[in-house]
Amino acid sequence: MKKLADMLSAELGNAFEAAGYDPKYGKVTLSNRPDLCEYQCNGAMAAAKEYHKAPFMIADDVVNQLKESTLIAEVESVKPGFINMKVNAEFLAEYMNGMSSEESLGFEKAENPKTIIIDYGGANVAKPLHVGHLRTAIIGESVKRIARFAGDQVIGDVHLGDWGYQMGLIITELKKRKPELPYFDEAFEGEYPEEAPFTIDELEEIYPTASAYAKEHEEYKEEALHATYLLQNGHKGYTAIWNHIMRVSVADLKKNYANLNVEFDLWKGESDAQPYIPDMVEYLKKEGYAHYDDGALVIDVKEETDTKEIPPCMILKSDGASLYGTTDLATLIEREKLYHPDEVVYVVDKRQELHFVQVFRSARKAHIVRDDTKLQFIGFGTMNGKDGKPFKTREGGVMRLESLIGDIEERMYGKIMENRAISEEEARKTAKIVGLSAIKYGDLSNQASKDYVFDVDRFTSAEGNTGPYILYTVVRIKSILNKYKEAKSEPVKGIVKSAQAESEKNLMLELARFNEAIENAYTEKAPHKICAYVYELANAFNRFYHETKILAEENEERQASFISMLLLTKEVFEACIDMLGFEAPERM
Ligand code: ARG
Repeated sequence: MKKLADMLSAELGNAFEAAGYDPKYGKVTLSNRPDLCEYQCNGAMAAAKEYHKAPFMIADDVVNQLKESTLIAEVESVKPGFINMKVNAEFLAEYMNGMSSEESLGFEKAENPKTIIIDYGGANVAKPLHVGHLRTAIIGESVKRIARFAGDQVIGDVHLGDWGYQMGLIITELKKRKPELPYFDEAFEGEYPEEAPFTIDELEEIYPTASAYAKEHEEYKEEALHATYLLQNGHKGYTAIWNHIMRVSVADLKKNYANLNVEFDLWKGESDAQPYIPDMVEYLKKEGYAHYDDGALVIDVKEETDTKEIPPCMILKSDGASLYGTTDLATLIEREKLYHPDEVVYVVDKRQELHFVQVFRSARKAHIVRDDTKLQFIGFGTMNGKDGKPFKTREGGVMRLESLIGDIEERMYGKIMENRAISEEEARKTAKIVGLSAIKYGDLSNQASKDYVFDVDRFTSAEGNTGPYILYTVVRIKSILNKYKEAKSEPVKGIVKSAQAESEKNLMLELARFNEAIENAYTEKAPHKICAYVYELANAFNRFYHETKILAEENEERQASFISMLLLTKEVFEACIDMLGFEAPERM
C-alpha cells in the first residue's frame, strides 16, 4: 500500500495545482505539534517565494480546494502559512483494513529484489564467543531480517576466523600433550581417527593455555607459527586436526547462535578463501594493481581527497604469508563467483573501519567486484559496562557470551517468579524468551555506530524503552484476544470501523506508519528505527488500552472493531520484533 504520508502529499499536490500552484509544494509530513494536528504541510511557505505572495494566502487557497477531500477531515491554514490537517477517520479505518488484508501489512516489497550478502558473526573458531561477538550477531541478524522482509534475496555468512595463528597454537599444544597421536607421525600412512582428540571444553582450555604460553616462550611461538604455515600449505596430519577443530567448534557455535536466535545461511570462513589466493596474487601482479614495497606485496589505495593517511593494503608479507586483507579480497572473489551479489554488507566492530576502507578500495581498483556492486561497512561501537569501560566480568576478565546470557535469564526468571505463580518450567522458558528481548532490544535501540552501556537493570525493566516493555504489551494484546475468544467468538480481522476516541485514532495513525518505519529502517539498514517505531506503537496501544473498556464494551460492532484493530496491532508488533530477532511469549 502507498504510505499514508505519500497519499496525503498527492492529495495536497492536487490541491496546490487546482489552486494554480506547482504541485511539488504539496509535501506532507507527520505533525511536529501533535496537540494541534496529525499531519502538516509547509509547502505554502516555500511557494511564497516563487509566487511573490503571502504564504497564508497560498495556504488559504489550498485549504479551499480540500473541502471535499475524502482523505482529510479537518484542514486549516495557520499563520504564517502552515497547513494543518487531520486524517478522515473513515479513510483511516479503511487503511487499517487494507493493511490487515496484506501479508506484508501494507509494506510494498521491492520490485527488483537485490541479492545481498551479509557478513556478520565473525566468530573465531576454537575461541569462546565473547561479548564483542554479541553486537555483530544481533545487528547483523536484524539487518538481514529487515532486508528479507523488504523482499531482497539475503544470504547471511558467518565468515569464521578459522585459518589463523590460533590453529597453529592448538596444534602445537596438542603435540606437546599427546605426541603419540598419528597426526604428528610424518611416516603415518593409514586413516586418521574419526573421533576428535579433544572435547569442546578441552579445546576451549587448550587455546588460552597455548596462547599465554607462547607469549612467554619464543621457541614455542615459533613452532606455532610454523605449524600455522604447514597447515596453510596442506600438511596432511595438521589438516586432519584442523577438520576436528572445525567440527567440534562449529557444532558448539551453532548451539550458541541458536540460543541467540541467530541463523546463518552459510558457514564459510577465511579458509574457504584460500584456494582463490594464488590466482588472485598472480592477477594483481600481472595487471599492475599490486607492487612490491620493502619485500611486501601491497596495493596503493590512497586518494587525493583523503584527509587522513590511508596506508596501502597488504597482500603478502615479505615471508609470503597472506593477511586479513588478502582473505577478505579473496572472499569477495569467491562471493562474486558463487552468488553475484548486488551488495556485500559487513557488520563489524567500527575499530576495523580502516581495514575495510583498504579492502573496498582495493576491490574496486582491481575490479575484483563489479563496478555496480555495493560494498558497505556497518561499524558498530563498543558495549560498555556501567563504569563506561568495555564490558567485563566482575573479576575483570573478558565476559563470555554464555555467562552474560545466563545472568540476564536468571534476572528475568527472578522477576517472573516474583510477579506471579507459574510453574518453574514455564518461568524458565519465559525468562529465556524475555531475557533475549532485553539483550537484543537494549543493543538495537541504539544507533549501531554508537557505544552504549549494557545496563542489566534498565534492559530487564518492564517499564521504559525496553524489550520486556514491548513484550508485556504484546502479551497484553494476546490475553485480551484470548479472553474475547473464550467469552464471545473468534476475533475477525479487517472489520475496523472509524475511530471515535482520540487514543483509538492515535493507535490507528501509529499502525499506519508501519510501512514508512520499515522503509526507513531498510534503506538506512538501521534497526534502531524499528525500535523507535515499536516503542511509539506500544505507547499508543497502552494509552488506548487504559482509556478504553474493550472487553466490557456493549456495542458489539464497536467491540468487534476494537478486536480487529488489536489483531492488526499484534501482527504489526510481531512483524517488527521478528525483524529485531526475538519473539513474544504467550504469557508473562
Ligand atoms: N573474525 C573477525 C574478528 O573476530 C571478524 C570478521 C569480520 N568479517 C570480515 N569479513 N573480515 O575480528
